[in-house]
Parts: sequence; C-alpha cells; structure tokens
Amino acid sequence: MGQTVFVPKEGDAGETRVAASPETVKRLAALGFDVIVEAGAGRASRITDGDFQGAGAKIGKASDVARADVVLKVRRPTDTETAGYKSGALVIATMDPYQANASLNRMAKAGLTTFAMEFMPRITRAQVMDVLSSQANLAGYRAVIDAAAEYDRALPMMMTAAGTVPAAKVFVMGAGVAGLQAIATARRLGAVVTATDVRPAAKEQVASLGAKFVAVEDEEFKAAETAGGYAKEMSKEYQAKQAALVADHISKQDIVITTALIPGRPAPKLVSAAMVASMKPGSVIVDLAVERGGNVEGAVPGEIVTTENDVKIIGHLNVPGRVAASASLLYAKNLYAFLETLIDKETKLLAINPEDELVKATMLTHGGKVVHPNFQDAAVEAGAAAAKPTATRKAPARKAASARSGRKA
Ligand code: NAI
Repeated sequence: MGQTVFVPKEGDAGETRVAASPETVKRLAALGFDVIVEAGAGRASRITDGDFQGAGAKIGKASDVARADVVLKVRRPTDTETAGYKSGALVIATMDPYQANASLNRMAKAGLTTFAMEFMPRITRAQVMDVLSSQANLAGYRAVIDAAAEYDRALPMMMTAAGTVPAAKVFVMGAGVAGLQAIATARRLGAVVTATDVRPAAKEQVASLGAKFVAVEDEEFKAAETAGGYAKEMSKEYQAKQAALVADHISKQDIVITTALIPGRPAPKLVSAAMVASMKPGSVIVDLAVERGGNVEGAVPGEIVTTENDVKIIGHLNVPGRVAASASLLYAKNLYAFLETLIDKETKLLAINPEDELVKATMLTHGGKVVHPNFQDAAVEAGAAAAKPTATRKAPARKAASARSGRKA
C-alpha cells in the first residue's frame, strides 16, 4: 500500500483556498500515493468532491488525517489540528511562522516535519514552487478589480457623442510581483498608470508595461536592492524625500494601489493621512500590505474605510483568496512540485535530503525540534520549558535578516 496524502478543508473561516487540485491529485496518485481529500475541501475554490474523486482521490473526513504521511495545507495547522496528526507526518503549508513560537513548538513536539513554503529560495529550480509569486500575482490583479469596483467612475477614456470620460489615473506603489501585475491589469483596463519602487531594477520593468516610473533616484536608491532582489529599509532622509515627491503626485491620482514590503520588517508607511486627505472625493486606495502593518495610514485590516473627504481605503485580507479558484490551482501546483522533490525516484517513498537547499530553507520542525535557524529562539523556549537550565543551547535567533527568509537577503 502506498503512502497517504491528506488534503483538509481549511479551518480558518476566511480561507477559501485549498492545497490540491484535480491535476495535482492525479499526479500524486501516479507517484503511488493514496490521496484522501476532506469532503467539501475544494468547494470555495469551485472544485467539487466529484472532481477530486474523478482525479483518483478518496473523499474522507477530518479525522482521516491521523493516517496521513503527508498533509498539504494552505495555512499553518491550528493546535487542535496538530493534535490529530500522526507523529512523523510531513506538513507543507504557508506557515506564517513569525510570532508563532508556541505553535512551532507544538508542531515539533507532535513529531511533525513541517515546511514553510514562503521560505522557498527564489532560484530557478524552485520557481515552480514559489507560492509568494503565484499568490502575489493574483493579489495584484485582484487589487485593481476591487479598486475598479469601488470607484464610481470609468477607468478607460471613453469618447462618446455625449462627451468624453477621462481615463482614471492609477498609481502603484511597490513594483514587485503584485505591483507589476497591478500595473498590467490597470493598463488593460485603460487607466493611465504610474508606479514607484525603491529598487532601480523596477524602473525598466515598470516602463516595459507602459507605465511611468516616479521615484527619488538618488545614490541610496541605486543601492537599495539586496543580492536576493529585495528592498532594504530606506533611511529617514530618503523616506522624507520620497514622501515629498509622492505627496504631490498622490493628490492628482484617482486610484492608489500599495504593495510595498520589506522582508523581516513591518511594511513601510508610504501614504500618510495628510496625503489621503489631499485626494479627490471618490478616490480609492487599496492597501495590499495591510496584513503586514499596512502602507497606508488609516487602512483597517478586513475593512473598507471611507474617510471624511470620501476616499475609500480598501484593506481586504487574504486577497489571493478573493480569486480562490485560480489561486488554488497555482498554489496546489507549487506544493506538488516541492513534494515531488521529497520522494525517492526508485523506491517512490518519502525520503527527505536534509542537505538539499530547498529543504534547508523551508524546514521548520523535524525530529521533535524546531530546526530552522530563524526560530532558534523558539527552540530555546522549548528547552527552558523542559526545565533543563544547564542544557547547552544554540545562540538565540539570528533574527531574520530576511523574514520570509531562506532567501539571500
Ligand atoms: P516584496 O513583496 O518583498 O515587496 C514588494 C515591492 O515593494 C518590492 O518591489 C519592493 O522593492 C517594494 N518596496 C519596498 N519598500 C518600498 C518603499 N519604501 N517604497 C516603494 N517600494 C518599496 O517583493 P516581491 O514582489 O516578492 O519581489 C521582489 C523581487 O523579487 C522583484 O525584483 C521580483 O522580480 C523578484 N522575484 C524573483 C523571482 C525569481 O527569481 N524566482 C520570483 C519572484 C520575484
């Protein structure tokens, strides 16, 4: 009998995605796995139990996880979920492991080998496993759709017999994966698009999508990109210059989409309350960074706030989950591609190579311990809890030069 993969229905009420698709189930079955999908797991992503069955899965119940050698998930398992898993099982998910030491320790103690997909290195070999890109791309798209839906004017220029509707002006802040897709989407809808970033590499990418690049291009800007391709936190001086430039620009925009993140740091505050107040009534702001502290002053996670001057600030949570049917297909493929690397080609059984750089970057817990270098403070806490004050311990936390690390930041 083959090893078993279990795909649960996500416990979080706001989670619409699922970690498998009919395509990945078919592939897992071809690799020799028995696949059990919890009844209704794909429903919010428009994948029926019948679709999963047709691909070779059995439909089961939540408690079937106790038999699983591998659990594929969207989010980190809750403590109750963890308690139901078999010791030694592999759990692959977006683990969101910061400020979650108690959970990490519980997963370690439960004997689980857990992998955080968001720590996947951004190297060519792992591109197909890059959940940050697959989900951010859809979030960037959806941000524009959400903005357009809240905006009570048309986006494209329309020349009609009754007069001309001017094109909407859209400003995208942060031109990474989400920002570039937001630019492309806003352009397709006919908006006039400008964008900013602190990384010089973004300039050409923005231009290639037909948008104008607006940024403070001083010496600091020229050095703002890390070896891993991410942004650094900018100096106070740079932030002030950026704010001055942006303040003037924002007052003329109809829609602002913010996507700026810095690995390991709270999201930079880019749009102040004064800037929001300078916008015209009916303008719309989407803060895609709201879950990481937000780029926009006044953004509220999970809400659409209307300011006194009638500007809407959209702070939707889990934006990829607002395009769940597409997001799940891509996410499922990301997970499958990683799981495939954990299988021995000859025996067709799970065989984790601890020396593989993908494993090193993503493995959080293994053999009863928290093993990831970014979370050795969790390991220390666990040691302390075991009341062995003299035990040798590793130095605490080489705390995340790169929070979503594994990356060369
Ligand atoms: P991210 O999600 O960490 O940040 C989003 C964007 O915000 C980045 O472009 C960043 O430079 C920008 N930002 C940060 N602070 C800012 C500030 N103060 N003002 C304005 N913008 C600010 O980044 P993401 O989207 O994950 O991508 C970062 C880079 O990685 C990009 O160059 C992307 O092309 C590259 N990448 C490479 C991949 C690969 O080689 N496999 C895969 C995906 C992305």
